[in-house]
Amino acid sequence: MVCLGNICRSPLAEGIMQNKINKQKLNWTVESAATGNWHTGELPHHRSIKVAADNGLDITNQRARQITKSDIDKFDLILVMDDNNAEDVLNLCKNDAQRNKVHLIKQFAGEQGNDVNVPDPYFDDKFEYVYDLLDVTCDSVLKSLLKNKN
Ligand code: 4NP
Repeated sequence: MVCLGNICRSPLAEGIMQNKINKQKLNWTVESAATGNWHTGELPHHRSIKVAADNGLDITNQRARQITKSDIDKFDLILVMDDNNAEDVLNLCKNDAQRNKVHLIKQFAGEQGNDVNVPDPYFDDKFEYVYDLLDVTCDSVLKSLLKNKN
């Protein structure tokens, strides 16, 4: 799960997806990272911590980090929050196999329409909206991955 700062959106996406993975008893690894390095080592944004806690999730184990080229080797799927994140991550990819791992999370979840980006609550303050959006989006991601698992 990748966003710009790894303090607002992708920590929520990681926490939400980890919870769904745990409920399904799957031994999948989910991590999150930033394209930028401004917040490396920081806790998630206090509003992300709060909206997660309001929904029963503790994301205070997370610390921001910047995505590396080895992440792209290591993970099967790189889900990014918006077009800018996609461009930045694609620039780290060394071949088509790596580029094919990179998807906008809303598109991977099968959402139709022009609005392909998860808005950044760092700028517009809509943390509850983004939580709910990521929750339904991660449900669709999980469903799609489970369908293709065997
Ligand atoms: P995020 O939000 O990408 O959802 O973590 C942001 C966090 C910090 C900044 C931008 C976006 N920033 O410019 O520091």
